[in-house]
Amino acid sequence: MVVGARPQFVKAAPLSRALRRRVRQVLVHTGQHYDRDMSQAFFDELGIPPPDRHLAVGSASHGAMTGRMLEALEAVMVETRPRLVVVLGDTNSTLAGALAAAKLGIPVAHVEAGLRSYDPAMPEEINRRLTDHLSRLLFCPTPTAVANLRAEGITRGVHRVGDVMMDAVRQNLARARRRPRPPGAPASRSYYLATLHRQENVDDPRRLTALLGALESLPHPTVLPLHPRTRKAIGRLGLRTRGLLRLRAPATYLEMLVLVSGARAVLTDSGGVQKEAFILGTPCVTLRETTEWVETLEAGANRLAGADPARIRRAVRDLERTRPRWSAGRVYGRGQASEAVARLISRFLGSARTDVTRRGR
Ligand code: UD1
Repeated sequence: MVVGARPQFVKAAPLSRALRRRVRQVLVHTGQHYDRDMSQAFFDELGIPPPDRHLAVGSASHGAMTGRMLEALEAVMVETRPRLVVVLGDTNSTLAGALAAAKLGIPVAHVEAGLRSYDPAMPEEINRRLTDHLSRLLFCPTPTAVANLRAEGITRGVHRVGDVMMDAVRQNLARARRRPRPPGAPASRSYYLATLHRQENVDDPRRLTALLGALESLPHPTVLPLHPRTRKAIGRLGLRTRGLLRLRAPATYLEMLVLVSGARAVLTDSGGVQKEAFILGTPCVTLRETTEWVETLEAGANRLAGADPARIRRAVRDLERTRPRWSAGRVYGRGQASEAVARLISRFLGSARTDVTRRGR
């Protein structure tokens, strides 16, 4: 299994546990995310075994990062000869893992397959589209994802299994709630929670300034755990935040569960946080023009607001006034997605205890 960025550690936790019960697994960390609070903290908190290989690729332009990963992953795959490579989500680590494997003739399993924003400018859209077209097994979280694949002519190896992030929430929420409240967290229902990290929001000074201005102007305090990309961009522009906006270090996963579930509303450009808000019953305003998680829009739980401060304030006001209700289980399943993926992978490999890492050993 190839991981590298924060959202993949969250998904890898339930998935890797379920897979290890059935098959031998080599966990490879590309090193795309490397700060302690973006990487190791997740391994520690979620009890993910240390990666068998760490490629320490680090930050670079998209081409350089993906290229370095491709070269290093190919070497690991040649050496360990996996019978299947599992990739998750839509990061550069996902694409590099899928491409390295496909070129070596190793089947690829993509978890979180079939998602589309239909925004070709998003690096993540390029990554997931290509990864899907390279994959033999495609594990879709929703019926929309299955339909998206069908529209691109992909019907073989497609399985709707539910969402592994639902599994992660179910496995960790009680534990998160038993812990002391995250430092500096305001009382439940007295604050908004925001996250911002997408290249298209953060690297565009006008958009970033508008977004921070919108968050500063909300009627209750907004907690904003800062992604390193965002921290750097704020520093580069010399922006000073005002009003009720409270910047803080990145939250751990358990802290995020508490912060999301206690917020009046979540404002985010992250795919994963939109989903966590939906699962935890908190309304969400998405700071983008598109979302892959269209079911959250249809349920009335999520509004798209882009980077327009007036639209953002209106969306928050509407959601607080209408207090929508929805069933996350109907959309993302009941926390059994990882088990389904593990079962289907072990069936694909032909026996319940096949060694997926060292063919012929
Ligand atoms: C990546 C993924 C995105 C995912 C996100 C979750 C791609 C194209 N994007 O975006 O799909 O939603 O992770 O966080 O793969 N940085 C640090 N320390 C770290 C990690 C990153 O300082 O531990 C800095 C890098 O130097 C870089 C910036 O953050 O300047 C962005 O990192 P990068 O990995 O390129 O993309 P993300 O924005 O994190």
